[in-house]
Amino acid sequence: MRIIAIANQKGGVGKTTTALALAAGLSEKGYKVLGVDTDPQCNFSSTSRVKVSGVPTTINLLLKDAESEEAIQQSPSGYDVIAGSNALSAAEKMITETGREHRLEEALQGIKEKYDYLILDTPPTLGILTICAFTAADSIIIPTLASFYAAAGINELSHSVEQLKHYNINPNLIIDGILLTKFDPRTIVGRKMKEITEQIGEHIDTKVFNTVIRSSVAVDSAQVMKTSIFEYDKNTTVAKDYMAFIDELLKGYEKDGVKKD
Ligand SMILES: Nc1ncnc2c1ncn2[C@@H]1O[C@H](COP(=O)(O)OP(=O)(O)OP(=O)(O)O)[C@@H](O)[C@H]1O
Ligand SMILES: [Mg+2]
Repeated sequence: MRIIAIANQKGGVGKTTTALALAAGLSEKGYKVLGVDTDPQCNFSSTSRVKVSGVPTTINLLLKDAESEEAIQQSPSGYDVIAGSNALSAAEKMITETGREHRLEEALQGIKEKYDYLILDTPPTLGILTICAFTAADSIIIPTLASFYAAAGINELSHSVEQLKHYNINPNLIIDGILLTKFDPRTIVGRKMKEITEQIGEHIDTKVFNTVIRSSVAVDSAQVMKTSIFEYDKNTTVAKDYMAFIDELLKGYEKDGVKKD
């Protein structure tokens, strides 16, 4: 069992697209997967075709007014989901006591062993929702656009991870790597940007995945149709890229001796 948070406080960098692709791709490979939406925008939940109202959602787990078991829904895309809701935007104000960063971790305790992978989609902030996800997670994947401006954000995210380790909130948390998304490998600028991203990675002692996710209109089309990119068309460049990324990720876990239990 492994819990992976998909995070970058910069908006629109492909976090939700990556979380959806991982959830759908891993379940297609036969793994039992639970996606947990911690973003008030609920894009992960809506594209997974689950309810975001009238059912217990992540906020109820954080407020301890529902059992995790009751919040699990089945996505037609093959994995289970604990949905997000707009109410998550008030989490910062609603959950105030010490130890609040452990709320999601505690809520997932009773159900996580039923799954091979838990994929946590996070909002574009480093606030309490993302910190709760980092506290619950074994590791983090950072999707990013190839851009000069990505460095500052990734450094800040890495600092948050160091703080969580330093204060013993999640001492074993690691960053699996940085994933380049919406990438255009055809341009010289694109290739140069990959090098720059590798330098950012070196600076925080984290690898950039060899696989890059190319830009493709199929991502928007799949979202409009509310299907996973694999259901939409598994022969599109982006579906192939995400499958190659999943293979790279799983090989890395095997190599690091991270065994599923
Ligand atoms: N590989 C890609 N090619 C083309 N468009 C993409 C790709 N990945 C994501 N997009 C598009 O970019 C937009 C943002 O993607 P996404 O929602 O995954 O980002 P996000 O980081 O989760 O955003 P937010 O920070 O708002 O949660 C969406 O419209 C999505 O369809
Ligand atoms: Mg998102």
